[in-house]
Amino acid sequence: MPGRVPLPSSHPAAMAGRRRRRSWPLVAALSTGLLVGSAAAPAAATDDRPDRGGGHHRGQASTTVEPFGTAPDGTPVERWTLRNGDMTVRVLTYGGVIQTLEVPDAHGQVENVVLGFPDVAGYASDADPYFGSLIGRYGNRIAGGEFELDGERYQLPLNDGPNTLHGGPEGFDDRVWTATPVGDRRTAALQLQLVSPDGDQGFPGTLTTTVTYSVDRQERLTVHYEASTDAPTVVNLTQHTYWNLGGEGSGTIYDHELEIDADAYTPVDETLIPTGEIAPVEGTPFDFRDPTAIGARIRVADQQLLYGQGYDHNWVLNRDDDGAREGSDGEDELEEAAELHDPESGRTLTVSTTEPGLQFYSGNFLDGTLVGTGGSVYRQSDGLALETQHFPDSPNQPGFPSTELRPGEVYESTTVFELDN
Ligand code: GLA
Repeated sequence: MPGRVPLPSSHPAAMAGRRRRRSWPLVAALSTGLLVGSAAAPAAATDDRPDRGGGHHRGQASTTVEPFGTAPDGTPVERWTLRNGDMTVRVLTYGGVIQTLEVPDAHGQVENVVLGFPDVAGYASDADPYFGSLIGRYGNRIAGGEFELDGERYQLPLNDGPNTLHGGPEGFDDRVWTATPVGDRRTAALQLQLVSPDGDQGFPGTLTTTVTYSVDRQERLTVHYEASTDAPTVVNLTQHTYWNLGGEGSGTIYDHELEIDADAYTPVDETLIPTGEIAPVEGTPFDFRDPTAIGARIRVADQQLLYGQGYDHNWVLNRDDDGAREGSDGEDELEEAAELHDPESGRTLTVSTTEPGLQFYSGNFLDGTLVGTGGSVYRQSDGLALETQHFPDSPNQPGFPSTELRPGEVYESTTVFELDN
């Protein structure tokens, strides 16, 4: 048994004992008009007519807006509601936050299945564990907050012990994004834009980022990211929604069954920085190649679980392509990365992505000090995050897929969260 799994990882098209992994060209998953820069008119769908059919929203897709208080600096915040089919998603311009996501369970009971705060103050507080936020410029950690690019050294502010986490103390999760509705009759969609100036949180280059959330009738939330820069830089964008398929505030996710299509993961040191090793999951509590209850092995006396106080690691996804960024040439493929199932509610979440990595974080640092949208206190593992990403600390790890972005290139990334019941 080899101690290391080489990158890129190739794998059989199907995982043992489960249905065939889906893979389809990116363009097929995006409705016409959602791609940033496409010629489709950004028609403002402001249809907020009453729901038809007993709480189910079988009418046209709608994208509506309401004021939602202000950021600490006084900037007005909007809350957008994207409604389509049986799914309703509420998005804040503060942090691009997915505040709520409502879908039916196996019995038709509609519930919010993500953790969040009732107001902007919660998200603006230092205690916010990135509930539902867009993360940038760099998702997860950069060791010592420093890296070298083209012979220049850059020092970022530290906000996680000796490291920089999720873009630094004032990351994209603490910015007010500019929102434009881009949906049509079939798709509820919102485009968020943010211009991060050169030197922002220590990163070089002016970074212009556009994120499009779209909700289709198949209960799929697609998150499409694009970014460009005017100087060489590093970028790793992600979305930090905490899921609880039994409903927000319903207790822990230990009974949720998780499957991750990954033969390997990246072990970390005690500050959660990858050691650089690509280690096989075989024979470890990190083997989620078959659906396994999250609580089944979370208390195993494993050094990696001790470091993370649970699961807080990057899985190296098995991919048909090499996971390298293809940019705007359209060759990135969406591939199924993970499936999360809650036996009690019958809900299943399927995550597909163009990214090579997935951070599975089991909500370890939730400590009973935060009150959520439904009015209950969040405790450890009351939600989990599945963050599609390039690997943590890639700027310092030559063996990992590159996170560099240069002028003239377009960063593109897509993740689809599909709910079934
Ligand atoms: C990511 C990190 C975790 C933690 C959470 C937010 O998942 O890997 O260590 O910081 O974000 O609390």
